[in-house]
Amino acid sequence: MLARVFSCGVIGLDGVVIEVEVDSSNGQSKVLIVGLPDTAVQESRERVQSAIKNSGFTFPRKRVTINLAPADVRKEGPAYDLPIAVGILAASQQINPQKLEKTMVIGELSLDGTLRHVKGILPMAALARQEGFECLVVPKIDAEEAALIPDLDIIAASSLKELTSWLLGEVKIEAPDISSLFGERRDNYQTDFSEIKGQEHVKRALEVAAAGGHNVLLVGPPGSGKTLMARALPSIMPTMTIDEALDVTRIYSVADQLPSDIPLIQTRPFRSPHHTISHAGLVGGGNWPRPGEISLAHRGVLFLDELPEFGSRVLEVMRQPMEDKVVTISRAQGSLTFPANFQLIAAMNPCPCGFFGDPVKPCTCSLGMVSKYQKRISGPLLDRFDIHVEAPRVEYEKLTNQRLGETSAAIRDRVEAARQNQINRFLQGIDPKDETKKQSLMTNADMGVAEIRKYCKLDEAGEGLMRSAMRQLHLSARAFHRVLKLSRTIADLAGSEHIAPNHIAEALQYRPKLMLDSLN
Ligand SMILES: Nc1ncnc2c1ncn2[C@@H]1O[C@H](COP(=O)(O)OP(=O)(O)OP(=O)(O)O)[C@@H](O)[C@H]1O
Ligand SMILES: [Mg+2]
Repeated sequence: MLARVFSCGVIGLDGVVIEVEVDSSNGQSKVLIVGLPDTAVQESRERVQSAIKNSGFTFPRKRVTINLAPADVRKEGPAYDLPIAVGILAASQQINPQKLEKTMVIGELSLDGTLRHVKGILPMAALARQEGFECLVVPKIDAEEAALIPDLDIIAASSLKELTSWLLGEVKIEAPDISSLFGERRDNYQTDFSEIKGQEHVKRALEVAAAGGHNVLLVGPPGSGKTLMARALPSIMPTMTIDEALDVTRIYSVADQLPSDIPLIQTRPFRSPHHTISHAGLVGGGNWPRPGEISLAHRGVLFLDELPEFGSRVLEVMRQPMEDKVVTISRAQGSLTFPANFQLIAAMNPCPCGFFGDPVKPCTCSLGMVSKYQKRISGPLLDRFDIHVEAPRVEYEKLTNQRLGETSAAIRDRVEAARQNQINRFLQGIDPKDETKKQSLMTNADMGVAEIRKYCKLDEAGEGLMRSAMRQLHLSARAFHRVLKLSRTIADLAGSEHIAPNHIAEALQYRPKLMLDSLN
């Protein structure tokens, strides 16, 4: 007899419906799996045989052929165990297949028939609803993640036995309650700005960065708090909307990095890859393309600590994603796209020993060494940072001061207001139907030349200041535009529609400066 069970696979970040057809016919006792299965799928026959027996059913002593369709999509992983087992039970008439018509089934089996976690549940559930399935069977441990998709009955089965009882109508399985996930306080960051002592101007620079989506480079001696402050950056970025949270969760689900107790990621990601990371690890790739660090940092922060160690290689691979905010990975079977809209923050010491320019501890490096060290970061990479800021050592008095600084929540309120000013301004200027433009122009950092001309107009006093800055500081055209964008953000933080000279003056402080300049 022939049975058919619907299941799901994931390509990139999207689900695809997979039909599991099982035919059991007379002949030599044998199990065949066809339809481009990988090793994990091939091995599923062993798990399924044991699970069926250990759940109190009999494995048919017949020739069992399992076809995974469509045949041209490669099938990966153990998630097909459960649909295969259910298909075999239906084909051997041990269960009633009636309920299976509008049900999608996903799950890995252990030998005793209990169900194990499967990655990529969120995109699979999204597909199930999109394709009009009424029920989705998932392992109990993944049920909350599946329940994020509304209008779909989630059957949270803990074992094959429980599922067959449900199929036979013997038990009811309650859908998980996830209403508490959408409560008031949704984010929880490890580092709060109030814990950072001193470094007022760095904190201000980070506030400007968060408000306008600008990339930041922190330079300073060891132990001055660069890593600490970078870690605190996500806590002052605007609270994630539910759509953003789902976006991020989908990536983590596919990358199998979703913590088991957190079905929905509501804190902005902070990714800090080590400088020895491979290209595939950074931008994504592999035989079965997986999201890389830049996609795991989507809607959050990518932190490159000890930037000179990364060298120019990073730029080479990140150039396209940083411009397009997505990364495209080409494979023989076609190309895949992962989102990669992150804010970049990097940290470095000014020289190999770390104390160049430090007022207390003398630097032990020769000038040649300092210069060589700084030159390891290529000009084009330095160019990607709108804000350059120095984090000097913190004095003892400040460090031991018991008074806490301003909290991240208070700063975040200002950042959110500034972001809203930007969005309102951009929305006025673009066609409401132009969705791509709406998506690509969210912050001041996203502005191109045309937008800068339109939105960064200066008054007479501002023009005068810019003119003298251009002359005295030898600003290039690119630097000029960068200062304008930053001034726009600073004005937005101040709630000002016009860019005033004091906004420009602050923006000029963040311009990239060659650290060796301080020698002259
Ligand atoms: N401004 C600060 N306020 C409070 N604690 C600080 C501050 N700066 C440094 N610290 C303390 O020092 C520790 C080390 O700081 P951190 O790792 O951020 O330094 P760093 O600048 O990244 O150094 P390195 O250049 O060696 O990487 C922090 O974990 C924190 O305990
Ligand atoms: Mg550090």
